[in-house]
Amino acid sequence: MSIIDRAGTFTLGNRSVRRLGYGAMQLAGSGVFGPPKDPQAALAVLREAIARGVNHLDTSDFYGPHVTNQLIREALHPYGDDFVIVTKIGARRGADGSWLPAFSREELTQAVHDNLRNLRVDVLDVVNLRSMFGIHEPAEGSIEAPLTVLADLQRQGLVRHIGLSNVTATQIGEGRRICNIVCVQNHYNLVYRADDALVDDLARDGIAYVPFFPLGGFTPMQSATLSQVARRLGATPMQVALAWLLARAPNILLIPGTSSIAHLHENLAAPELELPKEAVAALDGILTQAEPAAA
Ligand SMILES: NC(=O)c1ccc[n+]([C@@H]2O[C@H](COP(=O)([O-])OP(=O)(O)OC[C@H]3O[C@@H](n4cnc5c(N)ncnc54)[C@H](OP(=O)(O)O)[C@@H]3O)[C@@H](O)[C@H]2O)c1
Repeated sequence: MSIIDRAGTFTLGNRSVRRLGYGAMQLAGSGVFGPPKDPQAALAVLREAIARGVNHLDTSDFYGPHVTNQLIREALHPYGDDFVIVTKIGARRGADGSWLPAFSREELTQAVHDNLRNLRVDVLDVVNLRSMFGIHEPAEGSIEAPLTVLADLQRQGLVRHIGLSNVTATQIGEGRRICNIVCVQNHYNLVYRADDALVDDLARDGIAYVPFFPLGGFTPMQSATLSQVARRLGATPMQVALAWLLARAPNILLIPGTSSIAHLHENLAAPELELPKEAVAALDGILTQAEPAAA
């Protein structure tokens, strides 16, 4: 059994994926805009992730835009039968790199076709509708119109499964009345847990919860308690943060992002960690205790 297998599996749509996957956003240029400084290094990270057993990859055609999907195609096409690529639509990039809503029928349809072309597939495995009522945090607003468009594209055979991203419980309820929702991708990690109740509700319903920013995002999280626990266990803080998420609920699938092979190896070794009860209790308490500055 390889290390990544220790994280276990979860059924995403109609396929079983390893719970530790990879998020490709960090492979685009600075600010997720334009090409990477070193395209060969980006291709090497993708190939290494798959060589180490990753079979769940998160991307979007608005990373770059087009850049990460084209890197994925170059590094990994033709894809294996057990490989699941999850992409997202609902946003576009301004000329200055800004993130703008793209919820019209034309924009959503174009986005699906852009993903199909750039990934070079006939059908997209999973497409998340990314709500843009808020940028990093969900905000209320009806998703009925754009989700109906995505469900139409699914009926046309262009999309196998549908997920939602950056959404509230109300929007998930609205979405589930329109079509089957296989995953939810929201901001969540050891130090940001606004979705605690939602994670448990989705676990009960067998829906995958895929936290974005599992390591804290563009500036990885820092916490004195996390550093102390990591030191005691002989692990790195990022490995402990990932192990905590794996232990948090069985429907949590991880997509940590990195542009570095060394960080990739570190992250994919996280399932080796067995968090003792007292470590979990200390980590659980991070949000309720006054945190001294990280050591
Ligand atoms: N649905 C959405 O709205 C949304 C939003 C954001 C992200 N996402 C998805 O979620 C995935 C994960 O999010 P993310 O990449 O933004 O954030 P993340 O996984 O929380 O963290 C990535 C950051 O952590 C660093 N890092 C990674 N491994 C590390 C390690 N072992 N030690 C130290 N630093 C490490 C990376 O830098 P290096 O490159 O130097 O390793 C990068 O700066 C993305 O790739 C994307 O697919 C979705």
